[in-house]
Amino acid sequence: MRCEWKFCTQRDPSSVSSIMTPPTYYFSFLLLLVLEPSAAGGEEAGPAAGDKNVLLIIVDDLRTSLGCYGDDIIKSPNIDQLASRSILFTNAYAQQSVCAPSRVSFLTGRRPDTTRLFDFNSYWRKHAGNYSTLPQYFKEHGYVTMSVGKVFHPGISSNHSDDYPYSWSVRPFHPSSEKYENMKTCKGKDGELHANLVCPVDLSEVPEGTLPDIQSTEEAIRLLKLTKQKKSSFFLAVGYHKPHIPFRFPKEFLKLYPIENISLAPDPDIPRNLPLVAYNPWTDIREREDVQALNISFPYGPIPEHFQRLIRQSYFASVSYLDSLVGQLLNTVENLGLSNHTIIVFASDHGWSLGEHGEWAKYSNFDVATRVPLMFYVPGVTNRGQPQQNIFTYIDPLSPEPERNIPENVKEDPVELVSLFSTIADLAQLPSLPECPVPSFHIEICTEGQSLSPYLITSKDKRGNDEIVAYSSYPRPSDTPQWNSDKPDLKDITIMGYSMRTPDYRFTAWVEYNPITFEANFTDIHAQELYFVETDPNQDNNLFNSSIHSNLLTKLFGNLKSGRSFN
Ligand SMILES: *[C@@H]1O[C@H](CO)[C@@H](O)[C@H](O)[C@H]1NC(C)=O
Ligand SMILES: *[C@@H]1O[C@H](CO)[C@@H](O)[C@H](O)[C@H]1NC(C)=O
Ligand SMILES: *[C@@H]1O[C@H](CO)[C@@H](O)[C@H](O)[C@H]1NC(C)=O
Ligand SMILES: *[C@@H]1O[C@H](CO)[C@@H](O)[C@H](O)[C@H]1NC(C)=O
Ligand SMILES: *[C@@H]1O[C@H](CO)[C@@H](O)[C@H](O)[C@H]1NC(C)=O
Repeated sequence: MRCEWKFCTQRDPSSVSSIMTPPTYYFSFLLLLVLEPSAAGGEEAGPAAGDKNVLLIIVDDLRTSLGCYGDDIIKSPNIDQLASRSILFTNAYAQQSVCAPSRVSFLTGRRPDTTRLFDFNSYWRKHAGNYSTLPQYFKEHGYVTMSVGKVFHPGISSNHSDDYPYSWSVRPFHPSSEKYENMKTCKGKDGELHANLVCPVDLSEVPEGTLPDIQSTEEAIRLLKLTKQKKSSFFLAVGYHKPHIPFRFPKEFLKLYPIENISLAPDPDIPRNLPLVAYNPWTDIREREDVQALNISFPYGPIPEHFQRLIRQSYFASVSYLDSLVGQLLNTVENLGLSNHTIIVFASDHGWSLGEHGEWAKYSNFDVATRVPLMFYVPGVTNRGQPQQNIFTYIDPLSPEPERNIPENVKEDPVELVSLFSTIADLAQLPSLPECPVPSFHIEICTEGQSLSPYLITSKDKRGNDEIVAYSSYPRPSDTPQWNSDKPDLKDITIMGYSMRTPDYRFTAWVEYNPITFEANFTDIHAQELYFVETDPNQDNNLFNSSIHSNLLTKLFGNLKSGRSFN
């Protein structure tokens, strides 16, 4: 059966979901709504504490390549519309630029030094401390909590269950078509199917006739309708897979980005004075068949220019595909009359380098890998003074001149994803989280992130100067790029790059690290980097020079040491 893009996305989601949803899952959900009286919050109820639903949208590997972040190539009209109703943070940073550590960090409100998760191979409750999570906190306060798609990183780091049942009221949903992501489903020039990096597809030809993010959107829409029917307060987390590689998206979205209009990264070369420990050799794209065929040398490449353009084009098309799905989800919130009662948070787990510094991955401390889109829509607060109808209309990104919305509430201070837990709890008027003491391994509920609610509730623009810092870190197995530099296992980590971003600088110190005692030795420094972001926004010119910047460095270094949570 031929399946046009617009028909695929507009067909009745329930018909698809009922096929792919195990009956036990559906049944347990209904049972829960019936049995749990605290889950029933009336939408007619006045604005009392805890009466707001939460929709948390988490995107995988999405950098700030969005219209609302000033990117004028990208077509993201629906996310831009959300941004125009929200408070948008232009300098939000992940605590580690790889999926599992970043997600466990912001879902528990602790930094990687406290979750002790720098790779994919441990479950914090067993390995670090029995920390409560953001969804768990809502669950314990009477919300029905639901996970659709990739919210926790699946596998060991969430005990092969997305931390169910602690975090979620019902078993998390994963789209059935996810299993094809890494299979040979991309048609190559030879007419054969390959496991390619660049993978525009015809939906009528892919297995099951659908893609994971389409299925997740359908499931999220189904759950929204169900909770609306049952009038229960919900915390719904929807995790989108794109634009994570492979770039497998409906090919219609390519037409938004003619290849002749695609430029290279502004700084496609490896910076001359980059310490080698800072460089990551982008191993995961090298595994794809189309990249292997290019015979690119390890670790530095480069990738031929025509293929650089193809990667950028596919990433941008994946973002527009994502945007159309987010638009359908938000439009459902609107159509169900939920936009006055639902806090919407949009974030990504970290960024991705599209050729900047000659890199093609996350796995670093640069802004391009750590910086994330972050916006909060709080009904009646962030859209004050705006029309109260048609808050989230669907805007087709494929239409010739999609409507453009400009964000009105923009905050430029550096902020951290680890603040999500306390911020969302505050916005929903749940009891505020206590700040974690150091160490906090034995404490189940506390936060290492500062709540961002002062930015949202008051018109406060700036905090105290010395508070305006976002911390990240990245581990390495060696001073020079190795096959496992991107994703070292805990036992192989010998160096930790502790990094801080202030309004003016990015400063990183790569120090000796012991993966058995979890101790960083700040007297054994392997390399340091200092970038002035005003004159060098892409961080290509490492100006670290201990004699010239000694005072500044002493100050930054002191902040860096005190900013991380030691045990
Ligand atoms: C860990 O936390 C969960 C949920 O809060 C609780 O049910 C469990 O008993 C705790 N486990 C331990 C070993 O304390
Ligand atoms: C992890 O999952 C296993 C299998 O379901 C379970 O037996 C174990 O208790 C879980 N771990 C924790 C810390 O809850
Ligand atoms: C591509 O670039 C040309 C020339 O700058 C411009 O006229 C055209 O609108 C661009 N196309 C798209 C889809 O952005
Ligand atoms: C791949 O590149 C290497 C040099 O980097 C060269 O020696 C080798 O012949 C190339 N292989 C193919 C199949 O082109
Ligand atoms: C949403 O709330 C505002 C202010 O509380 C109210 O004026 C408006 O009519 C509401 N809109 C809908 C669609 O309920």
